[in-house]
Amino acid sequence: DGDVFKYYSEGEWKKSPSGKSVSIINPTTRKPQFKVQACTQQEVNKVMETAKIAQKQWAKTPLWKRAELLHKAAAILKEHKAPIADCLVKEIAKPAKDSVTEVVRSGDLISYCAEEGVRILGEGKFLVSDSFPGNERTKYCLTSKVPLGVVLAIPPFNYPVNLAVSKIGPALIAGNSLVLKPPTQGAVACLHMVHCFHLAGFPKGLISCVTGKGSEIGDFLTMHPGVNCISFTGGDTGIAISKKAGMIPLQMELGGKDACIVLEDADLDLVASNIIKGGFSYSGQRCTAVKVVLVMESVAYTLVEKVKAKVAKLTVGPPEDDCDITPVVSESSANFIEGLVMDAKQKGATFCQSYKREGNLIWPLLLDNVQPDMRIAWEEPFGPILPVIRITSVEEGIHHCNASNFGLQGCIFTRDINKAMLISDAMETGTVQINSAPARGPDHFPFQGLKDSGIGSQGITNSINMMTKIKSTVINLP
Ligand code: G3H
Repeated sequence: DGDVFKYYSEGEWKKSPSGKSVSIINPTTRKPQFKVQACTQQEVNKVMETAKIAQKQWAKTPLWKRAELLHKAAAILKEHKAPIADCLVKEIAKPAKDSVTEVVRSGDLISYCAEEGVRILGEGKFLVSDSFPGNERTKYCLTSKVPLGVVLAIPPFNYPVNLAVSKIGPALIAGNSLVLKPPTQGAVACLHMVHCFHLAGFPKGLISCVTGKGSEIGDFLTMHPGVNCISFTGGDTGIAISKKAGMIPLQMELGGKDACIVLEDADLDLVASNIIKGGFSYSGQRCTAVKVVLVMESVAYTLVEKVKAKVAKLTVGPPEDDCDITPVVSESSANFIEGLVMDAKQKGATFCQSYKREGNLIWPLLLDNVQPDMRIAWEEPFGPILPVIRITSVEEGIHHCNASNFGLQGCIFTRDINKAMLISDAMETGTVQINSAPARGPDHFPFQGLKDSGIGSQGITNSINMMTKIKSTVINLP
């Protein structure tokens, strides 16, 4: 069974004794592309055990040595960008150039973690007791940051490599060990990425990667007593995980319905190009995609015409040809998107293009005059479908944004910075972008969602801090 990719445990590539595998369907051909091992609970127990042992030693490894290994992994990852990007093309139908960008961005992210970690973790704090009432200067408190232990990383299909290393880099530099559970679509890209860490020479058992069915090992992993922290990016599963997980720090990013509020004085060409980039890059399969446009009625017609002209120029086809719009990740995803489109049609939305689908490939579609009773006004399509809601006041736009269950990011387009600041203040989202589409990067910026969009804050610096605990030692003078 040489065509089944092995999983990674104890510094070795292994076959699962289950003898079972999981197929990865190529979203473009809709045929099986790769197979990975279907690991069982026994293999999970083993990686947890070795992760715990390896972590103790790793925490004692000098910080500069940890950083050195991360820099090495980053360089090896970049050297292997072509085969890894090729996996992304085949497993998740990400356009060829964007796939390469994902790998390069991941290398940069790892290096930045190494540099930032050296600084953050290299500094301690020194406090004296006499600043608090009733105390003499007889206590010196030294604080440092210590690792949590074993970090479980679960990235989503849309950035299998980048959203894995955004968890691996901070975890490792901070002295933790790491267990990775890749998404099924993107698992092989993840295994290649892990191989780069293997080549860099990290200690055995410090990083493990278990593949398999969520139904078999998902809950077992997230509820495992050996896990000291979970960093998850994905959908609703995160809400279920947060209810079942033990008393451990959680970092979660669970999607969004990012609004784009357009005021009358906005530069409409700038808005249109940001709507295209924000709404349609990777066919809308980004948690930070623009997912609803809330435009003032007086400029709505002009804006919609500008966006329509740009939609007409988007190329649609296979990721190998680097098309702008590529097949969505699965048939069930395409069916879900179609359901939202049909609901909008039945309830009277204006179709700016005709709806077209071939297999998992859905042509980009702008829906104008969307009303609040349509599902597309609230739900996250994760596809190349973008609703436009015409508003008659800024308050209406803010109200729509805040009525969402999600609160990831949002954006405002206006030339009036005072108005932008006031609207930003009123929007209940983790980040507001002024005059640009929502985005997670640059990767050292804080990244967080409110409400159902997540728990905690990501971004390199925040992740390093989140994956450590403060430890104090108090020197008591006589
Ligand atoms: O899909 C969720 C990602 O965190 C979004 O990242 O803004 O770089 O596309 P991005």
